[in-house]
Amino acid sequence: MKDLLTIKDLSTKKIFGLLDLAKKIKKAPEKFSSHLKGKTLALLFRKTSTRTRISFESGMYQLGGSPLYLDWTTTNLHLGSIADEIKCISLYVDLIVARVYKHENLEEMVEFSRVPIINGLSDKFHPCQILSDLMTIQELFPDTFRDIKVSFIGDGNNVCNSLIIGCIKLGISILVATPENYEPEQGVVEWAKAQKNCQCFKLSHDPREVVKNADIVYTDTFVSMGQENEKEKRLTTFKPYQINDSLLKHAHKSPFIMHCLPAHRGVEITDKVIESKNSVVFQQAENKIHLQKAILLDFLL
Ligand code: CP
Ligand code: NVA
Repeated sequence: MKDLLTIKDLSTKKIFGLLDLAKKIKKAPEKFSSHLKGKTLALLFRKTSTRTRISFESGMYQLGGSPLYLDWTTTNLHLGSIADEIKCISLYVDLIVARVYKHENLEEMVEFSRVPIINGLSDKFHPCQILSDLMTIQELFPDTFRDIKVSFIGDGNNVCNSLIIGCIKLGISILVATPENYEPEQGVVEWAKAQKNCQCFKLSHDPREVVKNADIVYTDTFVSMGQENEKEKRLTTFKPYQINDSLLKHAHKSPFIMHCLPAHRGVEITDKVIESKNSVVFQQAENKIHLQKAILLDFLL
C-alpha cells in the first residue's frame, strides 16, 4: 500500500488479506512480537483520541517497533507549513498516522511525505475504524457477507462514509438513515451507486425503515470533533435518530449494535441499548488493535 486515506484506496482482495492477517495476530500475537524491530511510527494528532492513538501506539510496541506520539500543537506544525514540516518528520520515521480536521491536510501530507500516510480520522473518512469493524462483522457472521444488512442511523459523517465504502467493497448491504441535509458525502454516494458489486445501498430519512431488516445497527455521535459550534441545532435535529428500545421495536430480527465510540449515552444511543447483550462495541474496540497491527505489518514489512 502506498498510503491509506480512504478504504476506496484498497482492493477487495487487499481488505480480505488484512482481515486474515488481523485474525492470525489476534489468535497468536506473540508470533509477531519482533517483526517491526527498528521501525518508527509517528502518530501526528490534531484532535484527541483514546482508541486510535492507544491501539496504534501499543500495537507498534507489541510488534517490536517504536511509536512516537506527536500532539500537533507541540510540534512546529502550528508555525511552519504542512509541506515543510512533513518533509522533515518523514525523514525521521518510517510511517505516519495522522488525525486532522480537514481531509485536504492529509492529501497535502501525501504530496510531501517520503513515507506513507495513514488516515487516523479526518472530517471525511475513518478507514482504520471501519476496517476493524469489518473484522468484527466477520466474527459475527463468519460464513458469508452476502446476506448481511448493516443499517447506519444518525449523521452521514466520516464513520458513515467509510462504512458505506467498506460494506460495498465486501458485498455487504448498507442502508443509511440520516436527517435531511446530513446525508453522507456526495462523492461517496455517487461512488457507491456506480459499484457493480453493490449488493444493496439505500439512503433514507426514516430510521424505522432502515432498522426493519437490519442484522446490524451502527451509530456514531451526532456531533463530531470540530462541529462543537453546531451542537445545539444538531441535538434537536437528530433526536428521532436515537438508537433506543422504541426504534428497535421496528426491527424484525434482533440486530447487533455497533458504535465506534466515544458514545454519548442518552444522546445517539441509550444506556440500555449499548449495555444490551447484542451490543458489540467493546469487541469493536478490541479489534482495532489487531487490525491496526495488520496495517502496520502491511506497510512496514
Ligand atoms: N473510535 C475511535 O476512533 O476512537 P478515538 O476517537 O478515541 O480514537
Ligand atoms: N465521528 C466522530 C468519530 C470519532 C471516532 C468524530 O469525528 O468525532
